[in-house]
Amino acid sequence: MDRRKCGKSDIEIPVLGIGCWSYGGGDYWGEQTQRDVEEVVHAALDQGLNYFDTAEGYNDGRSEESLGKALKGRRDQAIISSKISPNNTEPSVLRQHCEDSLRRLQTDYIDIYYVHWPITEQSVQDAFATLMDLRDEGKIRSVSISNFGVEQMSEALATGAQIDLNQLCYNLLSRAIEIEIVPMCREQEIGIVGYMPLFQGLLAGKYACVDEVPEPRKRTRHFRQDRAQARHGESGAEEETFAAIEGIREIALAEGLPMAQLSIAWAMAKPGVTCVLVGARNRGQLAENAGAAEVSLDPGLIARLDELTQPVLDKLGANPDYWQGSGESRIR
Ligand SMILES: NC(=O)c1ccc[n+]([C@@H]2O[C@H](COP(=O)([O-])OP(=O)(O)OC[C@H]3O[C@@H](n4cnc5c(N)ncnc54)[C@H](OP(=O)(O)O)[C@@H]3O)[C@@H](O)[C@H]2O)c1
Repeated sequence: MDRRKCGKSDIEIPVLGIGCWSYGGGDYWGEQTQRDVEEVVHAALDQGLNYFDTAEGYNDGRSEESLGKALKGRRDQAIISSKISPNNTEPSVLRQHCEDSLRRLQTDYIDIYYVHWPITEQSVQDAFATLMDLRDEGKIRSVSISNFGVEQMSEALATGAQIDLNQLCYNLLSRAIEIEIVPMCREQEIGIVGYMPLFQGLLAGKYACVDEVPEPRKRTRHFRQDRAQARHGESGAEEETFAAIEGIREIALAEGLPMAQLSIAWAMAKPGVTCVLVGARNRGQLAENAGAAEVSLDPGLIARLDELTQPVLDKLGANPDYWQGSGESRIR
């Protein structure tokens, strides 16, 4: 398993990480049994896939709790990341929330601690100073960020904090970060952790048309503004999205690869990417997704996939916030 260094830290993680958002179940993902979680976590650890990503905000803390339970007795084999929500970054609140995450995860340190979204209501300076203190105290091993754009990265770096990773939405149909964020991360030695490589199943070939996609997964800018849970106010790119999916399906078939593996391998091969985080609800999905770690795509194939998905990038533009329109984008 290819392992890559996290920015300037001495932490190494496998190029494929396990996303734990569904753990504990909830409104977005529906039921997720603890038994499936434990099977996935143990099977992942057994094959060296030992990086697990959660957040205090996932299912009101139940994701952290579920992961903590699953790792009981094997915590020392795992690398855990969690995330502090931006509104909880006032120093004393942040400290308390970090303690709460540690308790739910049943551990005394978190390897990678991300600020989940850019901080808008609290002091950026105080937040990052507190995070660096937590690192010096050994409560966390890396200060990292998530969904930060170039201006927000500059603000965070100006605090003097060492920032190792930026976790961002990145998949064949969501490539806005390539425009400005990836170049800046590479320049600053901040590793990219790409999330949603399967675009929540669409890039695994699970849905043949828009109508088959569950409502919550239709709230991104790829879909029309009148989809039930959309809040972006844009016309979407449904035609381009499904044309690209069909093209990717054909390439996967010709290459003899499951579409999920092709999609994940594309993200893993991209410049600046340290790790790709994929969700797996059960052992079957994990087995298929883990196969991507063995797939190496030649540059010609990557270029064809880029070309095929360019119309989606052109239509959705440079806004890396796939949930809110340009005027309201949370990423700048
Ligand atoms: N920092 C952030 O703001 C942020 C935002 C989103 C995600 N994340 C992180 O990134 C992780 C991954 O993102 P994600 O879970 O949203 O999206 P994803 O990895 O693209 O999709 C995962 C979902 O796709 C389905 N799936 C997985 N493997 C499959 C396969 N082989 N065949 C068919 N369907 C398959 C499963 O859902 P069903 O079986 O229900 O279809 C699974 O829950 C999250 O768990 C989280 O840790 C971070």
